[in-house]
Amino acid sequence: MTSSHTDSTILSVLAKRVSPRPPVWLMRQAGRYLPEYRELRAKAGSFLDLCFTPAFAAEVTLQPVRRFGFDAAILFCDILVVPHALGQTVTFEAGEGPHLAPAIETAAGLSQLTGTVDLDALGAVFETIARVRSALPSQTALLGFCGAPWTVATYMVAGHGTPDQVPARLFAYRDPVGFEKLIDLLVQASIDYLAAQFRAGVDAVQLFDTWAGVLGSAEFDRWCTKPAARIVAGLRQKIPDAKIIGFPRGAGTSLLRYMEDVPVDAIGLDWMIDRSFARNKIQSRRPVQGNLDPLALLAGGAALDREVDAVLEAFSGRPFIFNLGHGILPETPIAHVEQMLRRVRKSHS
Ligand code: CP3
Repeated sequence: MTSSHTDSTILSVLAKRVSPRPPVWLMRQAGRYLPEYRELRAKAGSFLDLCFTPAFAAEVTLQPVRRFGFDAAILFCDILVVPHALGQTVTFEAGEGPHLAPAIETAAGLSQLTGTVDLDALGAVFETIARVRSALPSQTALLGFCGAPWTVATYMVAGHGTPDQVPARLFAYRDPVGFEKLIDLLVQASIDYLAAQFRAGVDAVQLFDTWAGVLGSAEFDRWCTKPAARIVAGLRQKIPDAKIIGFPRGAGTSLLRYMEDVPVDAIGLDWMIDRSFARNKIQSRRPVQGNLDPLALLAGGAALDREVDAVLEAFSGRPFIFNLGHGILPETPIAHVEQMLRRVRKSHS
């Protein structure tokens, strides 16, 4: 369970200790840039079948750890299994991204959902966690995750991914009280789901608020910060030592308020944030994780070396987990990941 993997460098950084070289993992490290993933993906049937078949999901979780020796494995699953377990129909069409039906465009749509997350419908996820934990070396942390309420709501409301999250933003402006009911439902679902992930064996969890950056300042507080604070408090009531990484992507200077109001153990940094702001105002008070631009990793060569060095220079010497500023892109060459790892691993703080 949570405190047993004391030789994990990730857990040590989350406990505010400085590591001589930063531990490293990558968001979306299990996925389409790996040939072994594509091969298994072709066998699994649908994307959700892959998520819900523990033997497959465990194998896919372990693939990048075996190949690259990352310091953490992240559970292979998706943030949209929560809407699925709330009664919305979720499908992934090849090349099209997710579809959720019926779309919850107004508060009236909430009656289509069950009032609580059906953890039995997610039983396969917990079995995957148990399998992965027993297959991992003790120094490798196993990370669970869920989407933050705002980000998950953007998909539930639109019924699919949207460039500017307009349907959810409109719902929230037109009927904030109704929208809050959806957020409340997701806060409780996230607490229950993450607590069950800890009970199944994850060492820490990440809260992905991928679309936090489109919110105005007041909306950021209401739909990103407050729900995250409630999730942290509710989760720690059930799992007192729960280690949590918060990642409100695109938050900019609002990251300061997020850090002050949400007692997560570490803050995820996207690639857009000003590095001296992040070092001086955030990392001086809380461990950070990130912030290599996924496009620099795709580009490779001298640009990649330069960006890796800039990230290391900004954040080494204080509690830091090396990662991307968002998920790895499917077109990324494996040789570029190897180049990045060689540079991070020979670095010293
Ligand atoms: O990090 C990992 O390796 C763990 C697995 C993981 C996936 N999705 C697998 C996945 C994690 C942590 C996620 C999170 C997720 N899913 C987020 C938040 C973080 C982020 O990247 O923004 C979001 C917004 C989603 C929703 C989602 N899932 C979309 C929009 C899509 C389609 C677009 C796309 O990238 O293909 C997915 C599908 C998905 N989730 C894939 C993978 C590997 C690709 C599906 C496939 O292989 O066919």
